[in-house]
Amino acid sequence: MSKKILITRIIPQIAHELLTQAGFEVNVWQGDGPMTQPELIERARQADALLSLGADRLNQNFFDQCGHLDVIAQFAVGYDNIDVAAATQAGIPVSNTPDVLSEATADIAFGLMIAVSRKMFYLHKTIEQGQWKKFEPLKNLGIELTGKTLGIFGMGRIGMVMAQRCQGAYKMKVIYHNRSRNEEAEKLYGARYVSFEELLKESDVLSVHSVLSAETRGIFNKASFSKMKKSSIFINTSRGGVHKEDDLIDALQTKAIWGAGLDVTNPEPMQPDNPLLSMPSVAVLPHIGSATEEARYGMARLAAQNIIEFYANGKMLTCVNPKVLSISKEK
Ligand code: DGY
Repeated sequence: MSKKILITRIIPQIAHELLTQAGFEVNVWQGDGPMTQPELIERARQADALLSLGADRLNQNFFDQCGHLDVIAQFAVGYDNIDVAAATQAGIPVSNTPDVLSEATADIAFGLMIAVSRKMFYLHKTIEQGQWKKFEPLKNLGIELTGKTLGIFGMGRIGMVMAQRCQGAYKMKVIYHNRSRNEEAEKLYGARYVSFEELLKESDVLSVHSVLSAETRGIFNKASFSKMKKSSIFINTSRGGVHKEDDLIDALQTKAIWGAGLDVTNPEPMQPDNPLLSMPSVAVLPHIGSATEEARYGMARLAAQNIIEFYANGKMLTCVNPKVLSISKEK
């Protein structure tokens, strides 16, 4: 009997095509938003494998009820919605979709940096409000990026593309803080490894590209913003949980930092009355880092390939808990 794959949202058709061609029975949730957890559990109980998205809550409760699943392929590079320890305990390999979205996500970080440095989103709004009356010699002044110091928090694939963009365009010096040294970034971009404290103190632009984990949750808070330069720009395109949003608002209102660009907020979605939306040197986007035709196609393809590889060869291209793959499992 063919294996049943549940895809939890409508994603690019390529995933469905590849899985169907490989002989799987594919069921795509047709809803306009994520399923509730009870709905997800009910449907996952009828499936052998899951192609999940970031809004699906795959926590201990989920694994207690869906430990029968053979494999989970996440349609995202981030997988903080999945309790990987619980998946591992249940013997379920989990994959994500790195690389295919690095260029797209770094573009958003880079774009937000420029937009914030010249107050672009805010000034666009002032025109709509009929406030462009005359040339203003002393108003609407931004700050320049050339030769400034870019601090990367989390020097993985996306952080490296951001470093490359900033160096190429603005000859920025690159410093970074990471769980471990990234020798490739050091070689390619002259990136200098620094402590978290140094990163806060020295960065003119501090761009977050880390995972959301117990160690990084809320790490950008009142104490950390207070150590940053008053002229600095904070950019977050990874996960909103890495910063404390009330502390960020406070840091901007009290001018502890100069500006902020966010593609991820805390919570999501951001409410329309959030004070960040009316601040001149702030730019906010609705979590669109990977939202290009190319990246979303690549994510759908990679997620499907991970499931196909798992059933064909017992391997996955981008498994996040690969030890599970070496342990044979009776389901
Ligand atoms: C990712 O891939 O992690 C993006 O943030 C989309 O969830």
